[in-house]
Amino acid sequence: MRRPMVAGNWKMHGTRASVAELINGLAQQQISADVDVAVFPSTLHVLQVVSGLAGSDFAVGAQDCAIDPQQGALTGEVAASQLHDAHCSLVLVGHSERRSVLGETDQVVTRKFAAAQSSGLTPVLCVGETLAQREAGQTLEVVAAQLSAVIDVLGVEVFAQAVIAYEPVWAIGTGLTASPEQAQDVHAAIRAQLAAKSPELAGQVRILYGGSVKAASAAELFGMPDIDGGLVGGASLNADEFGAICRAAGS
Ligand code: PGA
Repeated sequence: MRRPMVAGNWKMHGTRASVAELINGLAQQQISADVDVAVFPSTLHVLQVVSGLAGSDFAVGAQDCAIDPQQGALTGEVAASQLHDAHCSLVLVGHSERRSVLGETDQVVTRKFAAAQSSGLTPVLCVGETLAQREAGQTLEVVAAQLSAVIDVLGVEVFAQAVIAYEPVWAIGTGLTASPEQAQDVHAAIRAQLAAKSPELAGQVRILYGGSVKAASAAELFGMPDIDGGLVGGASLNADEFGAICRAAGS
């Protein structure tokens, strides 16, 4: 049985004061012990969140890492090994905002995935189609190609220590959520793609849904057989709303 996971992606939000407030709100949430919960603050706030949530069941992740795992001469970047040293346990790779706004290619995403794992971090690989791609009937093809880019270079076994997040780009921050059936179709296709190489591994990998997840929509989404939790953006900035989403993932 896969343990559900809910991850909060804070994106480029927060000040020291608002982050402190959010930490306090999170610490008050009752979350069932059978759900893994992680938050992904901006890199600037990682240390504050790690110390603020110390002793809680919240894991802390980063939103990105450098293509090289070790520290070195790469201005402006943060290495996965440095994130590990700061007590991050996870890192998002290939978020659509980085793919589209910052031009991250599948090759870059794959290097970041490898850098994360070699530093002991669990990568959360984000995949998803744009609205134009969905309307052109290319959803499964696009998502399969994003997944293949990693599998072809690193092998399918790397997914034993990774999480996948399916995030349709048209649903991110737009208030439009994929219907549970639309999401389930893509999640099932992702799992089938992994199963073609390793049925056992496919059964174990957690696949999260992301894209305007709210407390009101979470339970129905998480109730689908191949949806193992959520990657939550906007709603994760409100501790009570995020807590409610986490509770929806529990039994
Ligand atoms: P959203 O963001 O929940 O605000 O749509 C999700 C994400 O981008 O991870």
